Amino acid sequence: MYANWASDPEVTKFLTWPSHSSVDVTKSLLATWISRYEDGGYFNWVMEYKETGKVIGNISVIKLDERIDAADMGYCMSRAYWGQGLMPEALIAVMDYLFDVVGINRVAACHDANNPKSGRVMEKAGMKQEGILRDAGKNNLGICDKVWHSMIRSDRKCDL
Ligand SMILES: CC(C)(COP(=O)(O)OP(=O)(O)OC[C@H]1O[C@@H](n2cnc3c(N)ncnc32)[C@H](O)[C@@H]1OP(=O)(O)O)[C@@H](O)C(=O)NCCC(=O)NCCS
Repeated sequence: MYANWASDPEVTKFLTWPSHSSVDVTKSLLATWISRYEDGGYFNWVMEYKETGKVIGNISVIKLDERIDAADMGYCMSRAYWGQGLMPEALIAVMDYLFDVVGINRVAACHDANNPKSGRVMEKAGMKQEGILRDAGKNNLGICDKVWHSMIRSDRKCDL
């Protein structure tokens, strides 16, 4: 994780956390994540590249609202693997799991308006754009407009 994406400022440019300054930062974050698996409502996956077994990215529920069965997603991936449609593939798989296994009703995600390629991931995974919240977010580049997308259970074509 440290070598492949967490230490790369190009990956974290539009994210809310700074790139990791040492492998110890990554190790301690992973220890926190692992301890949180004990809570039933914690969902965080590493993406493994099938051919090589390398870990190349991460996708997780960054906020779960159990009151309305809603999950907000976050994701990031090693630059070497961008542009192959891998994150849309991962987001579709995770949304299927959240809708079908966990029983979530709404899956949403937002991106900095200046990071449209993340918006493409959301669109390619079948989410619909909801709107733009002006100056509503802050990431490593400063205050930004947040573009929200979502899929709700009733959007799914295969739902009976
Ligand atoms: C956003 C991100 C997850 C996209 O994942 P991905 O697997 O590359 O997604 P895709 O292959 O579907 O490409 C999505 C878009 O990225 C752009 N893109 C494709 N190849 C690219 C490359 N080599 N370099 C930069 N951008 C590229 C294209 O606009 C593409 O859209 P298109 O398919 O309509 O042409 C990845 O770029 C990333 O990890 N970025 C840094 C972290 C981040 O921004 N996370 C999201 C925060 S909201």
